[in-house]
Amino acid sequence: MGKKILIVTGSPRRHGNTNLLAGWVADGVAGRGGDVRIVDAAQLHYKTSGCTSCMGCQESDLFRCIVRDEASEIVASIPEYDVLVLATPVYFFSFSTQIKMFIDRMYSLYKFKADRILSPADHLQFALIATSAGDYGSGLDVLEKSFSKIAGLSGKKPKTLLTPLCPVDVTETMMNDELKERAFRFGAALAE
Ligand SMILES: Cc1cc2nc3c(=O)[nH]c(=O)nc-3n(C[C@H](O)[C@H](O)[C@H](O)COP(=O)(O)O)c2cc1C
Repeated sequence: MGKKILIVTGSPRRHGNTNLLAGWVADGVAGRGGDVRIVDAAQLHYKTSGCTSCMGCQESDLFRCIVRDEASEIVASIPEYDVLVLATPVYFFSFSTQIKMFIDRMYSLYKFKADRILSPADHLQFALIATSAGDYGSGLDVLEKSFSKIAGLSGKKPKTLLTPLCPVDVTETMMNDELKERAFRFGAALAE
């Protein structure tokens, strides 16, 4: 059976580079028989603006955010997947606000004990899709480093599709057949 893959995108531009890339990656997953779902974190309804650090998730036996909204439902489903792909544009050398709000809600999937971390998601393969206007050193480098720390929670090396020098006009990106092929192959490899 193909792998179950969740792609969470976090660009406020619905028809921008990041979502375009995520769609191509999803096509690659499906083409290899994987089961893929895309969720746009920028369009979810949140009851709070990000994690409020209430620590309700750490005090409970459950691996659930106690704030119940669309984000917490998606986060709670993450352990059902084999691969979690986060897709973001580089904003000020880092994640977009929209994807970071989602990532912080994932705190509920981990119990940070003094000597170990408990999680129903410790089998997860993490992957990153990131787009930027500048070159690798204009923020993708920092983002990649930060993401590898998140992926390290599962003890696995992350897989990354980093795409520098993306034109702001997405129709130009659409015509980039080489990038499309790279994204498709990236998705196919995730499904293997
Ligand atoms: C608020 C903001 C901050 C940005 N910061 C950076 C940056 O630090 N480095 C960079 O290379 N590009 C930066 N960009 C450009 C975006 O990363 C780039 O245009 C990206 O492809 C946009 O993705 P989207 O089309 O999915 O929105 C920034 C864009 C915006 C709107």
